[in-house]
Amino acid sequence: MKSHEYIEKRLGLLGALIIVVISFGGLAEIVPLFHMSKTTTPIEGMKPWSALQLEGRDIYIREGCHVCHTQMVRPFRAETERYGHYSVAGESVWERPFLWGSKRTGPDLARLGGKYSDDWHRAHMYNPRDVVPESNMPSFPWLFTKTLTGEDTAQKMRVMQTLGVPYTDEEIEVARETVHGKTEIEALIAYLQGLGLAMKDR
Ligand code: HEC
Repeated sequence: MKSHEYIEKRLGLLGALIIVVISFGGLAEIVPLFHMSKTTTPIEGMKPWSALQLEGRDIYIREGCHVCHTQMVRPFRAETERYGHYSVAGESVWERPFLWGSKRTGPDLARLGGKYSDDWHRAHMYNPRDVVPESNMPSFPWLFTKTLTGEDTAQKMRVMQTLGVPYTDEEIEVARETVHGKTEIEALIAYLQGLGLAMKDR
């Protein structure tokens, strides 16, 4: 009893001990996830992003698409009927950083791949109102003129490789020439068309 009183009367010490207790609780929940096959094994049929898609993903981040769009179908009937199978952990094993998001201003994009043609995406990105009159999504016309140099692509893939993404050295070697000169919109659409493909038909 005495020691309890001692701690309660010393705010700094109390705060520090609270942090220790909470961290322990957090660790007990978080650490097992690093070792569970469900969260560390990619789902069957999953392919790493190609060099072009990886650049497209970086454009997605740069333009803040994840601020309005989630990539996380929750296991609710309203969402699975609208988008498809709910998101599973194995889909995100190679996602660094993950883009699950939390703000759902626009539709979830986790199952977007193959839903529209490339032409639809081009029209939509150039001016969303041309295809969805009531849309309040911003236009992204500069993506049509800016081109990729491919300067850092190999380096980005190498970093992903050290983080466990199974890129081959040959893929990394040709990365620069495969993306060099492509427009940003091509890269972005390549990425969008790849979203959720491994979970299609489940
Ligand atoms: C200010 C919020 C906002 C931002 C930022 C935004 N969007 Fe959207 N997006 C929306 C809204 C709202 C819709 C629904 C209306 C429409 O289809 O245009 C939408 C729709 C979409 C759709 C159609 C989805 C479907 O299933 O019909 C795609 C694809 C899309 N956005 C991609 C993007 C990409 C890529 C970016 C970044 C370059 C982006 N959005 C940035 C708000 C946003």
